[in-house]
Amino acid sequence: MKSFRVGSIKRLNGINPKNNMMDRDSIDYVQSIKDLKKEKNAVILCHYYQSPEVQELADYLGDSLYLAQCAAKVTQNTIVLAGVHFMAETAKIINPSKKVLIPDLNAGCSLADSCPPKEFKNFINQYPGSTVVSYINCAAEIKALSDLVCTSTNAKKVIESIPKNKSIIFAPDKNLGNYLIKETGREMILWEGSCMVHEAFSLEKIINLARKNPDAKFIAHPESVSSVLEIANFIGSTSGLLKFVQNDSSKKYIVATESGILHEMQKKCPNKIFIPAPIEDETCACSECAYMRLNTLQKIYNCLINESPQVNLDSKLIKKSKAPIEKMLALS
Ligand code: 13P
Ligand code: SF4
Repeated sequence: MKSFRVGSIKRLNGINPKNNMMDRDSIDYVQSIKDLKKEKNAVILCHYYQSPEVQELADYLGDSLYLAQCAAKVTQNTIVLAGVHFMAETAKIINPSKKVLIPDLNAGCSLADSCPPKEFKNFINQYPGSTVVSYINCAAEIKALSDLVCTSTNAKKVIESIPKNKSIIFAPDKNLGNYLIKETGREMILWEGSCMVHEAFSLEKIINLARKNPDAKFIAHPESVSSVLEIANFIGSTSGLLKFVQNDSSKKYIVATESGILHEMQKKCPNKIFIPAPIEDETCACSECAYMRLNTLQKIYNCLINESPQVNLDSKLIKKSKAPIEKMLALS
C-alpha cells in the first residue's frame, strides 16, 4: 500500500530522536494509523466518497447501508467513521456501547441540513396517519420522528413493505423521492431537500460528453435530478453502480455521483474507463463532496490519538431513532 509520507526528514513514525517530540510534518500517517488501530482496538469504517488514500486505510469500505450493517457487528471498542456526521450518528445509535470517532466534526451533509427537526415535525403533523420514511442522510432527530429509515440501496424494498392503503411521507431527498414514486408507483408526500453534489451535474454537458463518447454508458445515483436520471442507462446506489460496472459488458462509463467512487470502480475494473459526469460550474470541484473530503489521514491519526471528536447522543434519542433503523436492517 502506498505510504503517504509528508515532509523531507524521515524519522520513526514522526518521533524526532533529538527531543522525542512528534513532528507532524514527518509522520508516516499510514503506518501510525495502523499501529494506533491495534493499540486502541479501533476499526475504520469508510464510505466510497472518501479520498483514495483514506479508502485505502479502511477495514470496511462501502455504501451507507453496509456501514450501518458493519457498525452493528464490529467487535472492536472504537469505530472511526470516515464519512459524514449522520453516518457516525447512525453507528452510535446502532451500537451505543462503542466509542464512535469522526475525524472532522464539521463533516456534515447538505441533504441532512435541508431538513431541520422542528420544521419537519410541523410538516408531518399536517398529514396524520401517514407512514414516515426517512432517507438515512438525515439527523438522528429526524430518524426519531420516522417509522422507517432507508438507504438508496434498499429504498424501493422499504417503500414496498408499506401497506398500499397507507399514505407515505418521504424525507429529506426530493430527487430520490421522485425516483421512488416512478419505481414503485406509490404516491408520496415529499420533503423538498436535496444534495448539493448531485444537483450540480449539468444535463447539457453530460449529453455533449455522451455524444463524444458513444461507446460509454451513463450511470447515475438516484440523488441526481430527474432530468439527469431520465437519460441514465443505469440508476443505483454507490454499491449498485459499483456492482453494475463489474457485471456489465461495456468498457466505458460516465458516472454521475461523488467522484470518490471512481477509485474503487477503477480498482475492481482496471481495464475499463470511468469518466466523472461534468458539473455546471467548472471552477469548483463540485462532484467531490466538500463535507466528505474534510477527512484526511492527518485528522484520522489525530482522532485516534486524542480519541476525539466523539459522537455522543442522548439515550432517549438513541432509543427513538434506533427502532426505524432496526426495521430497515431487518428488511435488508
Ligand atoms: P449510498 O451510500 O447509499 O450510495 O448514498 C450516497 C450518499 O450520498 C452518502 O452520502
Ligand atoms: Fe450529503 Fe451529498 Fe455529501 Fe452525500 S454527497 S454526504 S448526500 S452532501
